[in-house]
Amino acid sequence: MTTQEDAVRANDRNHVFHSWSVQGAINPMPVAGGLGSEFWDYDGNKYLDFGAQLVNLNLGHQHPDLIAAIHAQADRLATIQPAMANDVRGELAKLVTDAAGESFAKVFFTNGGADANENAVRMARLFTGKRKVMAMYRSYHGSTSTAITLTGDPRRWANEPADASVVHFHGPYPYRSPFYSDSPEQETQRALEHLEQTIVLEGASTIGAIILETIVGTNGVLVPPPGYLKGVRALCDKYGIVYIADEVMVGFGRTGEWFAYQAHDVVPDLVTFAKGINSGYVPLGGVIISQQISDSFDERMFPGGLTYSGHPLACAVGVATFEVFERDGIMAHVRDLGERVIAPILHGWVETHPCVGDVRGVGLFWAIELVKDKATREPLVPFNSSGADAAPMLAFAAACKASGLWPFVHFNRTHVCPPLVITEDQLRSGLAIIDDALTGIDASLQ
Ligand SMILES: Cc1ncc(COP(=O)(O)O)c(C=O)c1O
Repeated sequence: MTTQEDAVRANDRNHVFHSWSVQGAINPMPVAGGLGSEFWDYDGNKYLDFGAQLVNLNLGHQHPDLIAAIHAQADRLATIQPAMANDVRGELAKLVTDAAGESFAKVFFTNGGADANENAVRMARLFTGKRKVMAMYRSYHGSTSTAITLTGDPRRWANEPADASVVHFHGPYPYRSPFYSDSPEQETQRALEHLEQTIVLEGASTIGAIILETIVGTNGVLVPPPGYLKGVRALCDKYGIVYIADEVMVGFGRTGEWFAYQAHDVVPDLVTFAKGINSGYVPLGGVIISQQISDSFDERMFPGGLTYSGHPLACAVGVATFEVFERDGIMAHVRDLGERVIAPILHGWVETHPCVGDVRGVGLFWAIELVKDKATREPLVPFNSSGADAAPMLAFAAACKASGLWPFVHFNRTHVCPPLVITEDQLRSGLAIIDDALTGIDASLQ
């Protein structure tokens, strides 16, 4: 007899073409449902989601307020084209610009993060009249043409060349310093010197923008050392370069702030967002635009647009998201769990687990970096490894899943980035599962 699960699996394998995959090598898990920080399969196996899907499900599965917002908006006006004025679109744009800070004026809505970055770059190029864009190695900015070229990880390689005017540079990474520094302060100083040299050598007169993930996400939860972002801001001012903060993964509460740059005493010119704005219930992203850049388009056309820019269903969920954040004290919850629960446990693992080389993060956004040897810092698996080379990380993921935890795994790291609504008990039980799985890796190192 064919079960419902069999049918889901068969349709998926026969007709769905999946992202970033060798199509014949994958076996996607059929998901039957989800609630809050958990989802489950057709056999009733539950998984605590330590990746918040793709680090977008900030308010968790089936949040009643978000679902009610979709219902209410669908009953009122399910869609309207972007050239018309719409109540929820305008209301959300106001909420977002207010949250971003007083120098921001307007929001250009997109369908997600990649097209937010495409349009931020387009604005910066038109504003400065300069075409080159600088981006970091160890970064991800999306999979459309310019966004994938900006990306500083292996996902770019098979897509080259797409946008010839992109230059990569090294950002700070104290644990594996590309600058041979031995303190966060030295890392900041040397990383800024390297950035300035690259600007000068590439020609400041040719560089329109620098784009940075405020905290590098998938490529390692690299929290900038003190002063780095302020230094980037100063270099942008010195050389007439637009500073674009990619807050697609870290925006909307992931770090306990509306935007992660707010903890670094710095104000970008353009801020891109997606994911957490409405937990991905309906696709939505956008660019938050400074007053100055916005004004520059008052008398000339902005040559870009999308049929679904500011879709009312998506915006209605965004407005509801702001209400839930305020009413339920989500920011305070995130900061509390990060400081009181995650930080001490993870820092303890650096002492107790031979395989844990480094831990870093803030709020509900942490990385645990696994090594073969703490002294040499040799990664547990090689950079960009797959198949047999990645076996230790695959075994780690399998151990977590067998105990009911869906881990976020990338290269030699696992990240802790659950929905922001996770309870303390859930968080502690998930961390206990990771603790056990790490003990399994420790044993394999002996
Ligand atoms: C930092 C960052 N920028 C951009 C993107 C691309 O967003 P999207 O997948 O919505 O196009 C992502 C997605 O993971 C991201 O993490």
